[in-house]
Amino acid sequence: MLEGKTDVVEELTPNKSNTQWTKKDLLGIKDLSAEEIELVLDTAASLRQVSERSIKKVPTLRGRTVVNFFIEPSTRTRASFELAEKRLSADTLNFSGGSSSLVKGETLKDTAKTVEALQVDLIVIRHPSSGAPHRLSEYVKPGIINAGDGINEHPTQALLDMYTLREKKGRLKGLKVCFIGDILHSRVARSNIWGLTKMGAKVMVAGPKMLIPKEIEKMGVEVSYDVKKAVKDADAINLLRIQLERQNEPFFPSLREYARYYGLNSDVMKNAKEDALIMHPGPTNRGIELSSEVAESSGSVILEQVTNGLAVRMAVLYLLSMYKPENK
Ligand code: CP
Repeated sequence: MLEGKTDVVEELTPNKSNTQWTKKDLLGIKDLSAEEIELVLDTAASLRQVSERSIKKVPTLRGRTVVNFFIEPSTRTRASFELAEKRLSADTLNFSGGSSSLVKGETLKDTAKTVEALQVDLIVIRHPSSGAPHRLSEYVKPGIINAGDGINEHPTQALLDMYTLREKKGRLKGLKVCFIGDILHSRVARSNIWGLTKMGAKVMVAGPKMLIPKEIEKMGVEVSYDVKKAVKDADAINLLRIQLERQNEPFFPSLREYARYYGLNSDVMKNAKEDALIMHPGPTNRGIELSSEVAESSGSVILEQVTNGLAVRMAVLYLLSMYKPENK
């Protein structure tokens, strides 16, 4: 059966579009074409089957080494990358900010060069500074996967969000997706906006004025400061956490006030479509950006997003591992 084959993805993936992966790194959705996004989603759809088997492992990345370098806390992204690497039979190394020599004053470049000297193939990096993965890709030869950089991008989160939307609604083109919350500090919102607009979806952002970036309309999105109006006609509502750790000064008087005016609860949901999906990248702050009742309602796909994240990260690891400089 398929378990024994190295080319498992080629066997599972009908390459509908004939699109080839030509990138060494996945730094952001901004850099991807609609066809490349579709290729990742189709590859993820094939790889999802691996996790549904009794033996949840294929030898696709046997002999390859992946480094997970997380300088910021993470539960979902880190766990799903580690599991994705194991499912694909890669060897893995894990570093976190506190456990690496960065705390002794070593620069990111020197740490990256040290990791490169161990002849690794891919580096997955989460970093509090926007642009850190981009710098790393200039310093070292292994492929770089951005697992979230500051307030810039979180490409694999947007890919798993688009995968979930496409699976649930059958398409992305023409869907209306509403993001509510701290848009200003959200790398998830930024990556989703790049991706969804490329795929032909309409995007609305809503929240307190201070948490919506000026001129965000230039990214092709609509803006609303009224949550009840924003959710109207939305096919999916994606809630974003208030990122207090990135706010040097308070952007609104209190979290209680935020919950009252911008939180998604059953009362606000009366204005939404009956089949609107409730999404959240996590971690959630229940009672602030969404009520427990909404988080656990029948429209909530929050845990399905986590499941789909594993397949999407397997797809990204697979595609980047296939990169050859002559494909460029
Ligand atoms: N969505 C997301 O990035 O979650 P983690 O911070 O837990 O990885």
